[in-house]
Amino acid sequence: MPSTEATNTGPSLELSPEHEMIVQAARDFAQNEIAPIAPEFDESGDFPLETIRKMGEMGFMGIQVSEEYGGAGMDTMAYVLALEQISKADASHGTIMSVNNSLFCYGIERFGTEEQKQKYLKEVASGQAIGAYSLTEPMSGSDAATMVSKAERKGDVYVINGRKSWVTSGPVADYIVMITMTAPEKGHRGTTAFIIDTDQSGFQVGKKEPKLGIRASATSEIHFEDYECPVANRLGEEGEGFKIAMVVLDAGRIGIAAQALGIAVAAYEDSLQYAREREAFGKKIGQFQGIAFRLADMKTRIEASRLLIYQAALAKEKAAETHARFTLEASMAKLFASETAMFCAHAAVQIHAGLGYSKELPVERYFRDAKITEIYEGTSEIQRLVISRLELGL
Ligand code: CAA
Repeated sequence: MPSTEATNTGPSLELSPEHEMIVQAARDFAQNEIAPIAPEFDESGDFPLETIRKMGEMGFMGIQVSEEYGGAGMDTMAYVLALEQISKADASHGTIMSVNNSLFCYGIERFGTEEQKQKYLKEVASGQAIGAYSLTEPMSGSDAATMVSKAERKGDVYVINGRKSWVTSGPVADYIVMITMTAPEKGHRGTTAFIIDTDQSGFQVGKKEPKLGIRASATSEIHFEDYECPVANRLGEEGEGFKIAMVVLDAGRIGIAAQALGIAVAAYEDSLQYAREREAFGKKIGQFQGIAFRLADMKTRIEASRLLIYQAALAKEKAAETHARFTLEASMAKLFASETAMFCAHAAVQIHAGLGYSKELPVERYFRDAKITEIYEGTSEIQRLVISRLELGL
């Protein structure tokens, strides 16, 4: 039998005492408060508002935001470490946390005015309000620059009309960073970002998406009908929307990679335990090479994902002052970790066989939850496009 030392599936690099503390805090919270409720929220599809509020109180909803704007003032490593632990307990909570931190808070802290930070960032980073992000439209997903929703400036406001889709936390968000067209003839250079206050006329939550996985994270369309957005809520300059969307997605992709890692680790740990206990043909099933080698591949891919994620987190930190891009590191981490999550979840179902297919165990949920990590915030194909374009320089 392997020693217990060799089966430690937590972060395997030496972490700083501060990082160790956040892992411990996130792990305790996730295992005590999230894991027990995950199955019922997966079943009902209800939004887990109570635990999300508690996560806000713990500082998990704005981990990297400076304390003056309501955040925990920690670094990207702390963020990915915490997100892995939360997602290991439940990927839905992980998604809500990732979008709040990366796609909303990071965008406002990086591109927002002082007034916007005081008004919106503080509330969202402290977890008192929920933030979301909206780029996709029904006919514009991977080819994000082809959006047709638009904003027209009329004096002190922009009048926004159109339909956006696949908005994580859309039905519950208080504020949304939304990208739309202000000058369609200019293509991606004619797009602009806005901070949308959802408690205002002209904004409506549309169709809620019935989903295969991450069912407790609310996802919906959002509709704008002559919505008047004050000029003061424009994020960045006119024409900068696409660039802001891409920079923010670079940060988001590191978050999704950490979420995927959490799912992969959960699938692996459950499989490992099962392979040690379950017997067939007079042996523990882990003694069969077909199972053992599968576990070896899971573990190796998990640790490789972890290194890519830590590399991306460090690249983002390094770029904090210079605003250099960390696109390559983020896309590689997201691509590898999401495919690892799917690989591990698939293997976990197979190792558990009938039980893996049953709702009695969380294994089938890992399988359903893992799939989205290869799709949202840029499909695996888009990540390969981004990586190869950067490498080829063509
Ligand atoms: N950082 C900064 N600038 C960037 C950038 C980045 N990462 N990526 C592109 N840009 C800039 C380019 O330099 C270029 O600038 P110029 O205007 O100076 O030329 C401009 O943006 C346009 O770039 P491209 O020519 O590369 O644009 P493209 O049309 O070929 O698209 C793409 C590139 C990578 C395919 C991009 O469209 C993309 O990432 N698509 C996927 C979109 C996506 O991830 N959607 C998910 C939305 S969120 C979600 O899933 C829901 C949720 O709530 C979680």
